[in-house]
Amino acid sequence: MTSLLVLFALLVGDEPTPAAGNSPATPPVATISFHKQVRPILQRHCVGCHQPAKRGGEILLTSHATLLHGGETGPGLVAGKPDESILIKSLLAQDMDLMPKGGPALPPEAIGLIKTWIEQGASDDTPPEAVDTIDAEHPPVYEGMPLVTAIAFSRDGAMLAVGGYREILLHAGDGSALLHRLIGLSQRIEDLAFSPDGSKLAASGGSPGRVGEIQVWNLADQKLLLSVQTSIDTLFGVSWSSDGSKLAFGCPDNSGRVIKADDGAPLLKFDHHTDWVIGAVFSLDDKNLVSVSRDRAVKLTQTDSGAFIDNVTSITPGALTGGLEAIDRHPTRNEVVVGGVDGVPKLYRIFREQARVIGDDFNLIRPFPPINGPIRDIEISKDGKILAVAGGTQAQAYELETGKLLASIPFAGQVYAVTIHPQGTIIAAGGYDGMVKIADIATGQVTKEFVPVPLTTGVASK
Ligand code: HEC
Repeated sequence: MTSLLVLFALLVGDEPTPAAGNSPATPPVATISFHKQVRPILQRHCVGCHQPAKRGGEILLTSHATLLHGGETGPGLVAGKPDESILIKSLLAQDMDLMPKGGPALPPEAIGLIKTWIEQGASDDTPPEAVDTIDAEHPPVYEGMPLVTAIAFSRDGAMLAVGGYREILLHAGDGSALLHRLIGLSQRIEDLAFSPDGSKLAASGGSPGRVGEIQVWNLADQKLLLSVQTSIDTLFGVSWSSDGSKLAFGCPDNSGRVIKADDGAPLLKFDHHTDWVIGAVFSLDDKNLVSVSRDRAVKLTQTDSGAFIDNVTSITPGALTGGLEAIDRHPTRNEVVVGGVDGVPKLYRIFREQARVIGDDFNLIRPFPPINGPIRDIEISKDGKILAVAGGTQAQAYELETGKLLASIPFAGQVYAVTIHPQGTIIAAGGYDGMVKIADIATGQVTKEFVPVPLTTGVASK
């Protein structure tokens, strides 16, 4: 390609050709693509605050059309005139109008790229299938049942939150009604966690291969309080600190992270794992974190410094077979349950009470009878009495103190998510077949079975 162009230039020579008028003094600048170059910058740095569920200054930066439409002070840009465009002004502002709000400013190369795109006419090359048409007025339409990847009872049990496509569905706790649809940007919700005071709901997820996101919703008015976008793929297991000020989660870049729950400011990134981190929980006093990873390890980390403290489980080959996929902390004790590929839920104490002997598994309190496949989700009831596990094609409930299996609920496909009602009497679970089942732990009977999303073709409910 390059050599052909050179040849062409030689043939044409340096003679000015007024008729054509096409001999620029500087080499032509490559055409900037909105879809491939500009949009990813906005997605990473701006749409957390400028999306349908959260309209900073009324301007939406989720599509070419909404950017052009602009906000409070008019259109977002003037094609061909970067210096007259609000978008560029906002990126260069020297005062509190600087965007991203709260700073820091974007790197000069990113601003330069957006400027050049506007100079070149600010054209839209978004492929039709990538145009985002979903918002609260145009909710996702389901022709089939999506996988149920996340589920959680609210702190009072009145609500059951279920992850859907581009949204979280808030159902009545008994499954009798769909109450609200929290429509956001992430295509997939990986985990859901209600805040300790019950007023907020955090979600981790993302759009596979493109972007990861942490969302925080206010339950009273169903408003999106926080949307933090990361350049890494889907984010995993999210949990709250006891004081409700921080969120911890796992990432597919092998790191675990902590952010402030109110503004998303990064507090910690730790890198002791050698494979995807699937979840992290805080110790009772929030001073430590316990994380699980596909590298099979359960690691203890200091929250403030990020210092690695200990391997909670034995790291001797054979002690744990296969990666770990799920973790939850006991509500009142420094103990965690973990589960993974080997299908055996295990209860561990977080802090070692005796010096390590190579290969020991001293912190192990109790293994539980296995489930019939890889464990995907695990939860201890708020009263600390019941353990719920999702794995294989089952959701199971155990007595935490004795390890006794109390109930086993079969599903048609793999089960990905489980939650226990705060009173410890009912579990709800879902997975590959798209159904949510609510079951009574004492009798093992399914009391309600429903499709959590509104289907275009009839609604199945039993
Ligand atoms: C932390 C939230 C937040 C982030 C991140 C953010 N904005 Fe804003 N933005 C706001 C708020 C809120 C306003 C309304 C004015 C204000 O409060 O300063 C606003 C206003 C604007 C406006 C003015 C709209 C108008 O018509 O007056 C533009 C343009 C803008 N933002 C662009 C951006 C761009 C571009 C980015 C990313 C580089 C970005 N913002 C990131 C919160 C944010």
